[in-house]
Amino acid sequence: MGVKLGIVGSINLDLVASGAPLPTAGETVTGARFAQHPGGKGANQALAARRLGADVFMAGCVGDDALAESALALLRQDGVDVSAVMSEIGTSTGVALISVSPEGENQITVASGANARVSATDVLNLPKCDVVLCQLEVPIAAVLAAAERAAETGALMAINLAPAQNVPTELLRQSDLLIVNEVEAEFYGDALHQTGGLVALTLGGAGAALYKMGKEIARVQAFSVPVVDTTGAGDTFCGALSVALAEGADPEGALKFASAAAALAVTKPGAQPSLPNREQVEALLARA
Ligand code: RIB
Repeated sequence: MGVKLGIVGSINLDLVASGAPLPTAGETVTGARFAQHPGGKGANQALAARRLGADVFMAGCVGDDALAESALALLRQDGVDVSAVMSEIGTSTGVALISVSPEGENQITVASGANARVSATDVLNLPKCDVVLCQLEVPIAAVLAAAERAAETGALMAINLAPAQNVPTELLRQSDLLIVNEVEAEFYGDALHQTGGLVALTLGGAGAALYKMGKEIARVQAFSVPVVDTTGAGDTFCGALSVALAEGADPEGALKFASAAAALAVTKPGAQPSLPNREQVEALLARA
């Protein structure tokens, strides 16, 4: 049996236009290819952890529309426990409109739909876990409730502070692990390092670093891979880092494992379809 993760977060359907330059404000670009994949930061992180061998319980909401089953398809297929995912009457399933450039960079607009209905009540179902992992695409009240549940049950509380937004200081203080990219690190500033917990910073092509109380305790270089689509790479990192720390990996080992998983995720199109399994990550680590 693997380590157990509880994820409280968003579940989306990603509508992706790839291969054309990213439009600027007011501009129309043509020539893109269309694809549709399950997505959402919460669901992506849940699936990433599951493919790396964890038992994963997902709390979240979908709408009562035709998109819901498509959004949940890969979670169900890979054995994430979605028994407590609520279907919200009269709401639409979350949708992300994603443009991916020929270089693999993206622009994402999310229509939250049912994700905005996730509440503290949905968190009551969270079983005892090794790690509770949240992001900020659902209401903060639900994330605060998840942090309380983690404290009650002795779980490590991890938060991917994405997308960046103002959060109560108590939420940062209740976390054991905060995960940010460079943009988010700049948004939160010093507040990140005053929690006593770990802070993981992803640096894209420059690798990743782990801090405790503002002091760097580990740093890894990025794996050199062909970049097809960066969508979901950050989510892969979050899921993988949570799994590795729950399994007892040391800071550098955990960071390497997460970076290898994220590197593999950028080599294929789509967020969830690109998430690697354990064997693929271990093979990349063995080659490095
Ligand atoms: O982090 C990538 C995810 O952000 C996409 O799957 C999209 O749904 C948005 O939530």
